Amino acid sequence: MKKLIIANWKCNPASLKEAQNMLVGLKAGLKNNKAELVVCPPFVYLTEANKILKGIGGVVKIGAQNCFWETAGAYTGEISPLMLKDLGVKYVILGHSERVTTIGETNEMTAKKVKAVLNTGLTPIVCIGETLQEREQAEAFGVIEKELKESTKGIHKKEIEKIIFAYEPLWAISTNQGLICSSDDALTMALYLKKLIGEIYGRKTGQAIKILYGGNINKKNAKNYLENEAISGLLVGGASLNIKEFLSIVKSV
Ligand code: PGA
Repeated sequence: MKKLIIANWKCNPASLKEAQNMLVGLKAGLKNNKAELVVCPPFVYLTEANKILKGIGGVVKIGAQNCFWETAGAYTGEISPLMLKDLGVKYVILGHSERVTTIGETNEMTAKKVKAVLNTGLTPIVCIGETLQEREQAEAFGVIEKELKESTKGIHKKEIEKIIFAYEPLWAISTNQGLICSSDDALTMALYLKKLIGEIYGRKTGQAIKILYGGNINKKNAKNYLENEAISGLLVGGASLNIKEFLSIVKSV
């Protein structure tokens, strides 16, 4: 199965012009690409992303970094999954740790968003990961289990198969603590998530579910994480802003 490489631009770049340059550079650099690709720019650049990338026959899909759980209504400042679908968006990142720690989102909110995104026919990419303190106190497995169960509360077997999960240990994201999650540790957690999903929805479902890894991916280490087939792809943050670097990551697949 093709590996899935997702670019999470976060709150970057600062101007439409820069976003256009990045998208044009990405489009131009993709040759004989062997991965499935998704680019998740900020909401305001989604239309432009779709316009620029559409021309290359759906090789790169468009994703959003968040959305609301209602379809429409009096919810100032929110963006609904239906609006995203109308723009050509196919994927939505949900429950990213930066939304949890900076904005205060809860697993309960993620669960509502997951449901809404599925109901709209889009694919949720649900992020799950523990903090450094939780890992050091040997609580990582318990935290992951709680997060998985709470953020997929009420999800049926047919729906769970449509969700993509990303193991993203908070301590390894953006290397703000200078720590790297080894490919062995990433694999352990990917297998653990598959086991948990298997216990709830059946072994086959657990085996088939896609688990990505995210946290300080760069062109040098990308290959290590992709070696094992239990890791279906990568969620790339910082390194995806440098198009040359991102293309090298894609090439390493
Ligand atoms: P990073 O971010 O690659 O910059 O560590 C990954 C993520 O937050 O998805």
